Amino acid sequence: MNPHQNPLQWLPGHELLIHDIVKADGCHVTDSRGKRYLDLESGVWCTSIGHAHPRVLKVLARQAAAVAHTGFNYTSPVVADTARRLLGLLDFDGGRCVLLCSGSEAVEFGVRAARMVIPRPLLLTMTDSYCGAYGSAHAKRPEEWHLFDWTVCKRCPAARSCKGGCEHFATIPFDRIGGHLLEPGSSSGLVHFPPKKLIQAMATTVQKEGGLVLVNEVTTGMGRTGEWFGFQHYGIAPDIVALGKGLGAGYPVSATVFSPRAVRMLGDIPVPYAQSHQNDPLGAAVAATVIDVIEEEGLIDKGRRTGARLLAGLMAVRESTDRIVHIRARGLMLAIELGDDSLRSRTAWLHRALVQRGFLVGRRPKAPVLRLDPPLTLAEEDIEAFLAALKDLFKQMP
Ligand SMILES: Cc1ncc(COP(=O)(O)O)c(C=O)c1O
Repeated sequence: MNPHQNPLQWLPGHELLIHDIVKADGCHVTDSRGKRYLDLESGVWCTSIGHAHPRVLKVLARQAAAVAHTGFNYTSPVVADTARRLLGLLDFDGGRCVLLCSGSEAVEFGVRAARMVIPRPLLLTMTDSYCGAYGSAHAKRPEEWHLFDWTVCKRCPAARSCKGGCEHFATIPFDRIGGHLLEPGSSSGLVHFPPKKLIQAMATTVQKEGGLVLVNEVTTGMGRTGEWFGFQHYGIAPDIVALGKGLGAGYPVSATVFSPRAVRMLGDIPVPYAQSHQNDPLGAAVAATVIDVIEEEGLIDKGRRTGARLLAGLMAVRESTDRIVHIRARGLMLAIELGDDSLRSRTAWLHRALVQRGFLVGRRPKAPVLRLDPPLTLAEEDIEAFLAALKDLFKQMP
């Protein structure tokens, strides 16, 4: 079989909307006929500074030629430098850091390390948190996890001022919980932001009892929400932070970063974990370059401003149609929820129509939601073109 003729036969899982992408640069990808698409999904939330950023291309070539990979017993200065950069960004002076390859792995490493020292058996997380493709944080078995359903909090009139004193909060068995894993906003890709006071109440209760707060920043980190990290909207002090996706801007590098408090709790016990590419110099060099670019190009501020412009434009589109029921946004993490679409057919129609017009947005098949998580470098004229197409498509929607 020629896989180019029938790509669905050999690629598992996902519906393929375009199967001949041959080039990617900045915020665009291009197919074999030269059609360009604006990538408002950053691949899978990954290309934080755009596809094929010239400085990433340069460092990939330079570092690959110097040293791409070492063994467990050897390292390279670029790894320590990158670890220092990440510790500095997180204000974790005296902390530690390991570089890995995927977001799932970074979360799992943090969970595994936390379980070595937490005083109680359960980790607390939200029912709608996605934490990875495998492992304990994926399986969320009841003997290891307590899942808190905060759908009632979404409707609660006191959510904004919530300090966790209600009956629902009282159902959390803190006497059995040794850690809290927060996913600060992506909510399995549907973009919901748990209330600040609720998260503060969870985090402080866990830490007061000697437990650890872990934050999954795989989607929300590296400027996505208008701050370097999503937890910064919550005024909490995490102990372990998992990073991925945007850290490598398309290259597979992730990190688990430990605060000095977590390091004190772990002491000198090594986390038993052997993965061939942990702390590879190539991934380290890419991550350091992505941090440099975000800092030097002022992309946190730019992303915040671009997010505000996109949100204002979406609100204006919402005025022109009765099909949108909610727009949720924090920085450059936005979701448009369509109402009255029980079969999700309008959402699917809009998704496909946008692709045909050259705009890639995120869609979860079972939800009437389209998601935007573009690179921090998104240009003003691309926003305007997208908003115009969106407005027009709502007019044509069946
Ligand atoms: C919030 C969140 N955490 C973790 C992951 C896992 O990251 P990766 O796919 O790089 O393993 C994802 C992936 O989509 C995610 O959205």
